[in-house]
Amino acid sequence: MKAVEVREVVKIYGRGFRALDGVSLDVEEGSIHALLGPNGAGKTTLIRIITTQLNPNKGSVKVFGYDTVKDSSRVRKLIGYVPQEVSLWGDLSGYENMLLYARIYGVPKDVRSKRIEELIDFMELSEAADKLVRNYSGGMIRRLEIAIALMTRPRLLVLDEPTIGLDPRARSLVWSKISEFRRESEITVFFATHYMDEADKYADSISLLNQGNVVAQGTPNDLKNLVGGDKVSIVFKGSADKVAEIVSTIPGVLATDVKDDYLELTISDIATTLPLVIEKLYGNGLAIREFKVREVSLDEVFIKLTGRRISDELGRIRDVMSMRRMISRGR
Ligand SMILES: Nc1ncnc2c1ncn2[C@@H]1O[C@H](COP(=O)(O)OP(=O)(O)O)[C@@H](O)[C@H]1O
Ligand SMILES: [Mg+2]
Repeated sequence: MKAVEVREVVKIYGRGFRALDGVSLDVEEGSIHALLGPNGAGKTTLIRIITTQLNPNKGSVKVFGYDTVKDSSRVRKLIGYVPQEVSLWGDLSGYENMLLYARIYGVPKDVRSKRIEELIDFMELSEAADKLVRNYSGGMIRRLEIAIALMTRPRLLVLDEPTIGLDPRARSLVWSKISEFRRESEITVFFATHYMDEADKYADSISLLNQGNVVAQGTPNDLKNLVGGDKVSIVFKGSADKVAEIVSTIPGVLATDVKDDYLELTISDIATTLPLVIEKLYGNGLAIREFKVREVSLDEVFIKLTGRRISDELGRIRDVMSMRRMISRGR
């Protein structure tokens, strides 16, 4: 069964700005799907359509078979949602925030406190539960928001930039919690991000979004193969011509480039091809002196397809600043 089916969705803002220009994608039940793209690509717009906050101008979205326009209340019951902006009250404690949302979402009274306790514990927030959210770190805020989104036992968890502005440790804790929850509950996860490393590491499948269009779709490896595979550079001892001849016959070697004592290979899959390369070189009496492996990044894929970068370091710093501002506003 498909958890999400997006078909030819167009969203027009104002007098004709096409924020989404015919987007289609599928998310398999139980998988983690990343919507990856730079700022302004249309990620939040699509997430708002999936979560029934906005209607598309054209096309349709189904969540577990229910149409987000015609069956919006059914769809809402299936979804847990964490928006891009911080959605908590800073002047309430973590526990009080959960209680308030439990009432808003209609979590049955008899299970309310048990579920809250369980989720607070699961998200490693027990010690902080009675402190004001205003004093939480960015990572704690995100974990609390995810706990809140899970209170209604959704089949689909939708996260809009779940780790924006967090430091690496906080990001990996957020993700280990999401992954752990998914393993235990078979929930489907749909998340938007402009951090390609995160999509690469945690998503089963990715839709690359650029200016309202899906430019590529598939597993992280499918996407990387679009730019021709991983690179290996080897500094060796021996004759260049001989090396070129030897490696060019190895299956999985897509391209070779030999200069003096330096060899650069493009290979389809490090795990299967690299051992063959090493075996052949040694087998022919060529000693390896230096060795480097460089995996293709999704950024390279994006650049090849669009001519633009997804994100940069400066962007990360800006994200951190805006996260801090959100927290200090103490909503
Ligand atoms: N309510 C709106 N009215 C007009 N333009 C909007 C509105 N919301 C978003 N946009 C524009 O639509 C584009 C996509 O925005 P958004 O979906 O927020 O992208 P992302 O989440 O990928 O950064 C951007 O150019 C943004 O400025
Ligand atoms: Mg956004």
